[in-house]
Amino acid sequence: MALDKARIKCKEYNQEQVLKYYDELDDKAREALLRQIDETDFGVIDRAAHQAGKGKITPIEVLTDAKIKANREKYEAVGIEAIKAGKVATVLLAGGMGTRLGSDSPKGCFNIGVTRELYIFECLINNLMDVVRKAEKYVHLFVMTSDKNHEATMEFFKEHEYFGYKGEYVHFFKQEMAPATDMNGKILLEDKGRLATSPNGNGGWFSSLYHSGLDMCIKKEGIEWLNVFAVDNVLQRMADPVFVGSVINGGFSSGSKVIKKAARDEKVGVICLEDGRPSIVEYYELTDELMNEKFPDGSYAYDYGVILNYLFKVEELEKIIDNPLPLHIVDKKIPCIDENGSPVAPTEPNGHKYETLILDMIHMMKDNLPFEVIREKEFAPVKNKEGIDSVVSARELLKKNGVTL
Ligand code: UTP
Repeated sequence: MALDKARIKCKEYNQEQVLKYYDELDDKAREALLRQIDETDFGVIDRAAHQAGKGKITPIEVLTDAKIKANREKYEAVGIEAIKAGKVATVLLAGGMGTRLGSDSPKGCFNIGVTRELYIFECLINNLMDVVRKAEKYVHLFVMTSDKNHEATMEFFKEHEYFGYKGEYVHFFKQEMAPATDMNGKILLEDKGRLATSPNGNGGWFSSLYHSGLDMCIKKEGIEWLNVFAVDNVLQRMADPVFVGSVINGGFSSGSKVIKKAARDEKVGVICLEDGRPSIVEYYELTDELMNEKFPDGSYAYDYGVILNYLFKVEELEKIIDNPLPLHIVDKKIPCIDENGSPVAPTEPNGHKYETLILDMIHMMKDNLPFEVIREKEFAPVKNKEGIDSVVSARELLKKNGVTL
């Protein structure tokens, strides 16, 4: 992009500050900055500020643990059959920055072991291997990374020989980036010649997967279901035959693993219907009234939270691949340079990240089966170093589940 065109684009979006140091840069850096300005979608900032509100929220029926237990064998048999036939693959969302954990490496490289090395990626592969052994079939694993951690993630898997998994079943693809701004929507500079950017959220996983060329693999292998899960839940059970079997058996196009809320105000997205379609209301969008609403039998109407483990029918995803997802503004610590050009490593959130979220894809599905799992067995998120959802709490839960640390 030529300088005059870049100036026009920056002016149009009120982002002229990104060219402040242009004159100080050498030719190579100038070219790189102009290319970045050309390739970056400045429109996200404005679109994020003008999001539509939620529709009418009503409860959704959950397949509770009691109901699952009553049909467990039947569901499991259906799931195993689909896995054996190669119809189920998994997608590991590992493009996040893990800023709360505060490690420079990809989150999955974090060693959660105490007396031995046990990496987060390793925990996940170990869990997947349980399914592989049961179904006697390897399951494809697609790993989403971002510009910030792609090489490091691939290297880590290679260096550790895929933690015993078959390398040809592991595929990496990159998600896209979005500009990061200060609290007033002004794009920050990472250094004088580079805009601050961050991964654009986990909502773009399917389009990034397809645009990376991996759609060929999905078609060639006859994969019909994708089980998408977060990197940071070390008790995550993926390609779970009972979950897969329940969704297939019920004729659903998608499913969500859910847990019963531990407290009314627990910070989890709540599964529900919105204008008659499945949806998830984020905890910060849940009104007190909905939070406390009860059914006539006294149980809570909105009592199940999602744990970022969803099953999608590929055929349905293909129909919505180009649908725009809502944009969410997230407060983050964004390393940048200040107005004097000096580097800043913030200790508190100093700006906004713009993200689309996978949970909004649920609302694009015609139906969804919320499938209850037991928190102590399947939910040990590693978000923070200490306290709630931390390395400390996840270690406790791993131990309780018989994992040697
Ligand atoms: P989080 O919402 O916890 O974000 O991600 P994060 O970036 O990993 O961590 P913090 O908030 O900076 O501390 C939930 C899941 O979605 C993935 C993460 O890797 C994690 O598995 N994710 C998140 C992406 O793949 N891409 C993103 O842009 C954001």
